[in-house]
Amino acid sequence: MLECIGRFCHYNHDYDYHYCYKFFINGTTTVSSDERTAIVLNTTERAYVLKEMRGLLEAIEAVTLGISQDDMKAVSLASRKVGMGATRSGNEPMTLIAKLPLEFKTLGMSVHRSFDELALEADTMGDGSIILGKLGAILNTCTTCHANYKFTD
Ligand code: HEC
Repeated sequence: MLECIGRFCHYNHDYDYHYCYKFFINGTTTVSSDERTAIVLNTTERAYVLKEMRGLLEAIEAVTLGISQDDMKAVSLASRKVGMGATRSGNEPMTLIAKLPLEFKTLGMSVHRSFDELALEADTMGDGSIILGKLGAILNTCTTCHANYKFTD
């Protein structure tokens, strides 16, 4: 079976453009036993994303503790670590880009962007209750995505 592998697969002249375009929007998904959309990933890809997920949860741990101790430096550091900079690690499996549905990538990016906003908030106003409110909004994106997607082999 053909697979799209480029960051933007239509640059890959070996493959039919429209075939790849469909993949770019939908990723590689399948129906699952529950109400969620299952994204088909191999072991390496899945491990990569799940590690990133655990990093997000660790960030939330540090941000929450930081707010409770009024330690805005800690809040800022933990947030930046999972900000947009984290998406340019260069270690991500290239195949992931094509396999994740566009909506999934959009939700994921909005989480990283929101953590940068959180860091900015901590660096400037440093108001714990505002930051907590923004963290609540980020958590809503986490739970929305978790309610809609899962991974499968
Ligand atoms: C774009 C979608 C998406 C977003 C946004 C998202 N997740 Fe996930 N996350 C997933 C999927 C899919 C799984 C795997 C669930 C499954 O296969 O049942 C997952 C799994 C996890 C896991 C389990 C990791 C493991 O090792 O098994 C944790 C923890 C997690 N997410 C935390 C978070 C936190 C915290 C946020 C928000 C800051 C977040 N996620 C945002 C899609 C997302």
